Amino acid sequence: MKIKRFADLCASGQVRDKRVFIRADLNVPLDEAGNITEDTRVRASVPAIRMALDAGAAVMVTSHLGRPTEGELKPEDSLAPVAKRLSELLGREVPLVAQWVDGVTVSPGDVVLLENCRVNKGEKKNDEALAKKIAALCDIFVHDAFGTAHRAEATTHGAARFAPVTCAGPLLAAEIDALTRALAEPKRPLVAIVAGSKVSTKLTILESLAKNVDQLVVGGGIANTFMLAAGLPVGKSLVEADLVPQAKAVIDAMAARGAEVPIPVDVVVAREFKADALATVKDAKDVAAEDMILDIGPQTAQMLADKLKVAGTIVWNGPVGVFEFDAFSKGTETIARAIAASDAFSIAGGGDTLAAIAKFGIERDIGYISTGGGAFLEVLEGKTLPAIEVLMQRAEG
Ligand code: 3PG
Repeated sequence: MKIKRFADLCASGQVRDKRVFIRADLNVPLDEAGNITEDTRVRASVPAIRMALDAGAAVMVTSHLGRPTEGELKPEDSLAPVAKRLSELLGREVPLVAQWVDGVTVSPGDVVLLENCRVNKGEKKNDEALAKKIAALCDIFVHDAFGTAHRAEATTHGAARFAPVTCAGPLLAAEIDALTRALAEPKRPLVAIVAGSKVSTKLTILESLAKNVDQLVVGGGIANTFMLAAGLPVGKSLVEADLVPQAKAVIDAMAARGAEVPIPVDVVVAREFKADALATVKDAKDVAAEDMILDIGPQTAQMLADKLKVAGTIVWNGPVGVFEFDAFSKGTETIARAIAASDAFSIAGGGDTLAAIAKFGIERDIGYISTGGGAFLEVLEGKTLPAIEVLMQRAEG
């Protein structure tokens, strides 16, 4: 994919004394006291800022936080906790600037954080006048917010259209490279794991991947609907019986390409949805009317682990069981460890997936862990994200 990269501009000395505007995704979870509870996105944004400072730029950084009402900055919408964390990570004071759209004072070698960009009127609607004002603040617009790349807003799309120079920051460039490697130019076999509670929320992903992948592993409640489509009993498990025709269509589309949707051969069931519920392994065809499927069984887990072992590329979104409860976490653990041990290039994304990776401590063994939630899912759906589209357009012009 042809895009302009900030790292290249820095390396060729084009950034010295320039005004650089970085759109980061610093949308982090906060507790009630306003403390950051998970700072991955702040840490992931540091390389672009350091790169700009090292190259001698005057640096402005902004992000949205939450979904505030435009036109009013409430205390809970402020990026103040992020400014504090960024200051710690950069080892220097990062001043927080409010009301910045009409002008920002910052000198080369300095960095300022611009308050929650979603508070600006017109941000969400990608208002052209606002986008032009933001673009006018800088010489170089650096898009580094992969987590927000699926939103066409003034700071993610409009400003990228109008800035004198627009390029991808190191985080966004790394995400694009990893996704290209996994989905556009994969080493085969390409195995995708798509799990979660409902087929309905991931149907477009399943349909899109069914055109590309060699193995489509389904898990969680999604697998229950596929088991029903394969004629297996699912008891009182979470299932969407009305989506059986769509599940069948995915199975058929895969089969027509000589590809496969592996259906569980055994499962772990319980009578109640509780951490201490009695867990029983059953053959998939023996699930009783009062059973709830809460995990894949050991034979299925091993069968999938064997496929992951010989994969060339693995895309992982979603745990295959209720991994938060230890008794029903073994399937997800087996899959996680198989991905970690595989020589395949692996990419993982999505909140629950990241929690599973953290639980089993395999962060270092995954090829790439995406910082995108909704953005990652939209790429799996086969969509071109607005922020990436504008980067490609600017690279042409
Ligand atoms: C996210 O948390 O997924 C991104 O920051 C995008 O946030 P949004 O869904 O509020 O646009």
